Amino acid sequence: MEVIIRDTPETGCLLAAKIIARVVREKPDAVLGLATGRTPLMLYRELIRLHREEGLDFSRITTFNLDEYVGLPATHDQSYRWFMREHLFQHINIDQKNTHVPDGTAADMHVECRSYEQRILDAGGIDIQLLGLGRNGHIGFNEPTGSLRSRTWIKILSEQTLQDNSAVFGSLEEMPKHALTMGIGTILDARRVLLLAFGPAKVRAVEHMIEGPLAAICPGSALQLHPRATVILDENSAAGLRYADHYRWIDKNKFDWQRHK
Ligand code: F6R
Repeated sequence: MEVIIRDTPETGCLLAAKIIARVVREKPDAVLGLATGRTPLMLYRELIRLHREEGLDFSRITTFNLDEYVGLPATHDQSYRWFMREHLFQHINIDQKNTHVPDGTAADMHVECRSYEQRILDAGGIDIQLLGLGRNGHIGFNEPTGSLRSRTWIKILSEQTLQDNSAVFGSLEEMPKHALTMGIGTILDARRVLLLAFGPAKVRAVEHMIEGPLAAICPGSALQLHPRATVILDENSAAGLRYADHYRWIDKNKFDWQRHK
């Protein structure tokens, strides 16, 4: 796992945007796996800026989002389809037909999940999967103790996730209790994964993900199995890491120094 510690979420997001922009430039028909939530907002803003000011071209890009709430139509302002349109898709030159978010209103959820996996395969697999990290260590909506080899499926949201995300729904009752999410196996199939975690609330999850044992109780720890996983932290989320100096040393002395320039 490549661990990069930046001063602030802003500088972390700028680096993440550089990494994604580089994938888009090098492979104009790349397949991007995307995430929602508070963490990637600045990264999306930077991608929009790169599109507007530097002509970053998304016209041949395909995207697959990690997850969607069960029961929320694309017209609901808390659906992840809505989020992606608001924060990225409507501001760049992506072909909407090539943007995929699981359909939380599908008549048959099992068929939808299987078809989502198939669509990823048909697109050639995901070149780079962006991830956030839940306070409980979840990635996508793969909550603690779920299978580390899971595929896209319906998951029950944990109490912690309901607490963390229910404010925007007004009340806990109005928040969906289920979501469709890529499985951990699906995520690990991406050719590269890029996880961002910022702020003091993520300290424990970050610690376990990077330095704890590989364990279903912290789904993020599954990234230890990935041959090309990059984790970008800020000083706050990295505060509990035992080997922070080691990661800084590696980052500073990288052989492949051009990678993040
Ligand atoms: C979002 C997702 C979640 C979030 C995680 C962190 O599509 O899959 O795993 O990445 O809950 O959320 P924030 O960024 O709001 O702290």
